[in-house]
Amino acid sequence: MNENQPPTKRWVRVTCTEAIPLREGRAVQIAGHEVAIFNLGSHFLAIENKCPHRGGPLADGIVSGGTVVCPLHAWKIDLSTGKTINQPSAPPCVKTFATQVENGVLSLEIPVAASATIHFPQDCLATISQGPYLTRSASSEV
Ligand code: FES
Repeated sequence: MNENQPPTKRWVRVTCTEAIPLREGRAVQIAGHEVAIFNLGSHFLAIENKCPHRGGPLADGIVSGGTVVCPLHAWKIDLSTGKTINQPSAPPCVKTFATQVENGVLSLEIPVAASATIHFPQDCLATISQGPYLTRSASSEV
């Protein structure tokens, strides 16, 4: 495998859906990305966990409809588009990540180096606080 290849998008299993309470966010680190995942009841949405204002932790914000309000200075971010809503002159937006749920396990589509191997621990409830185990070894793939 070529270590110099640019990251490609891969589906990465992250956690059991029960690990993210209804209408709350949780942060996870995956392959160098800090991601905030939100449970909206009928579906999950994921965005970069860094407010475009001054980098506030969006996973700790208040979920309101399909938006999250940053806990630091109350900028409101649309969870589907990543765009700021209440700041017309704000920088463009935060990154968004596609999500899917299969058999109660939430996955994210995220850029990961082609040479990386992501280990999925047996106790998936632990992954939300610790993040998946990302290494460059060749042992058990996702
Ligand atoms: S850091 Fe988020 S509104 Fe200021």
